[in-house]
Order: sequence, then C-alpha cells, then structure tokens
Amino acid sequence: MTKKHIIIDTDPGIDDAVALAIALYSEEVDVKLITTVAGNVGLEYVTDNTLKLLKFFDKEIPVAKGFDSPLLRELIDASNVHGKTGMEGYDFEEPDNHLLLEEHAVNAMYKTIMTSPEPITIVGIGPLTNIAVLLKLYPETKSNIKEIIFMGGSASRGNSGVMSEFNINFDPEAAKIIFDSKLLVTMVGMDVGLKALVFPEDSKKIKDMNKVGHMIYSLFSKYRGGSMKTGLKMYDSTAIAYLLKPDLFEAVETFVDVELNGKYTTGATIVDLKGYLKKESNATVCLDINQNEFKDWFLEKINDCK
Ligand code: RIB
Ligand code: CA
Repeated sequence: MTKKHIIIDTDPGIDDAVALAIALYSEEVDVKLITTVAGNVGLEYVTDNTLKLLKFFDKEIPVAKGFDSPLLRELIDASNVHGKTGMEGYDFEEPDNHLLLEEHAVNAMYKTIMTSPEPITIVGIGPLTNIAVLLKLYPETKSNIKEIIFMGGSASRGNSGVMSEFNINFDPEAAKIIFDSKLLVTMVGMDVGLKALVFPEDSKKIKDMNKVGHMIYSLFSKYRGGSMKTGLKMYDSTAIAYLLKPDLFEAVETFVDVELNGKYTTGATIVDLKGYLKKESNATVCLDINQNEFKDWFLEKINDCK
C-alpha cells in the first residue's frame, strides 16, 4: 500500500484532536509535518495542545507555529465550543518542546513540500491562513502539492455566521486564495460535518477501547460541538475520512467562491451547484455522507489508536 504523504494544518480544538489521532495511527498515512494556526483558540494554546497530543500519542512529528490572526479581519475564536484552552476535559502532561521547529509554519511547509520525493496532500482542519500564505509566498510549491483537502465551508447555512462556517468565517480572504489556486481542492464542509455524529452509545464504546479512546471520551465531556444526546459533530474527522475513504461521501465538482463583502453573508462559501455564475469548476464539494458507514469507520479508526 502506498502511504499518503500529508501535512496537517490544525487549530486543536477537540474535534481536531480526534482527527489528529485517527491520522497519526493510520497505517495508510505518513504525517510529515503538523502546522498550527489560530482558530478555535489562540496560537499559543493550539500549539501547546498539539504538542501535548503528540506527547500523549508518543508520536515524533515536527510541529511549526503559524499565524496568530487572520490575514485582514478581527480575531474571533470558538472557546465557547472547545473551552478556554481549546482542549478542556483531559489533564495532559506538559509537553516538552523538542518537536517545535524554530521556523514559521509557512517556511516549514515550503521545505517539507519542496524536499518531498512524493507529492504532498495538505489537510486543513482549521482556518486556512497558513495555507493561503504558503501559496502566495511560495507558488512553486504547487508543483509538488497533490491536493488540498480541508474541513470548512457550507453549501447551506453556517455555524459561526448565519451563512458562514467557522474556519472560513475566521479568514474568508485565505479561503478565497485556496479556491482561486487552481490546485485540486476538496471542501469537506458542514453539509457532511453535521451528519458525522458520535452518540452516547458510541462514546461509551470509545471510552473502553484504549488509552486514546479514554482520553477522547474525556474531551467529549467538554466539547460543545453538539451534545452527547443529539450527537457530537466530528467535523475535522470528516476531512481525514475523505482522505482515507472518499467513497463514504457524495461529492460534486463545482465552482465555489467566498463572499467577502456581504453585510450578513461575509465568510459564506458560494457553492454554485446550478452553474448560475457560468464559471469553471474549481473544487470538489462534499454534499452528503453515509452516516452509518462513517460511524463504523470512525469507531474502527479509534480502535486502531493503540
Ligand atoms: O466549523 C468547524 C470547524 O471549526 C472545525 O475545524 C472546528 O475545529 C473549528 O475549527
Ligand atoms: Ca479545527
């Protein structure tokens, strides 16, 4: 089996933590670098959380810190969903910082991509600021980027603005740069994230699976991305699911742009399913997910975290 060589850009974040676990324990994946970006909570917290998770997982993956704010907009956060530190619910050991690179995330991405013998897939599970600056500062990296798969956007309504999903709403200009990049781009948005649910009976199974499952169960007690009863939304795991098992999804090639000037709609992803704008397709957009098959896959992957 040829491994998928990936960079994960992340803002842990409880659902990020679960997605990172699945990726890091998957045989099919070779995580070359993890870059952090402000999003759910501030850059220091998300970086600290990433290092704490790698120590907990005992995985030696280089980490590089990225941007602490969006390209242009005021900083927002999602501490109401993930808690003040972004990863409440479990008492992690303090990380040793030997995995933390000196260089900025964008430069670390550049080096990783340009020295990789295999094309790199970038998996974005936070705001897209780092990835956007990479493409602007180092356009030559496009020659060795296989695709960008990111969790974000919505073909319907939002979870951060009326019509905007959090990762896009945090940095709409960055998202536009990605959609305009002419790279292979897959948007794994709320249309599938809202259906990627973990229910109490699943959480109970996860709790007793292994050390990672027990930790995830503890984080779920503080995660406000849904509720234990109505189902916790595994937004970021859907991006990893698309990477590893795309047949879980129904997806279409279409044109997507990002609203930058709407009074109420800034940050909305304009998914032109009917072709009104008469523009060339620039993204694959996931519109549906097989919920039961996702859940089976999800439980199997958490069970593999040992
Ligand atoms: O809208 C959900 C996304 O925003 C997820 O990536 C979650 O971690 C937050 O970053
Ligand atoms: Ca995230």
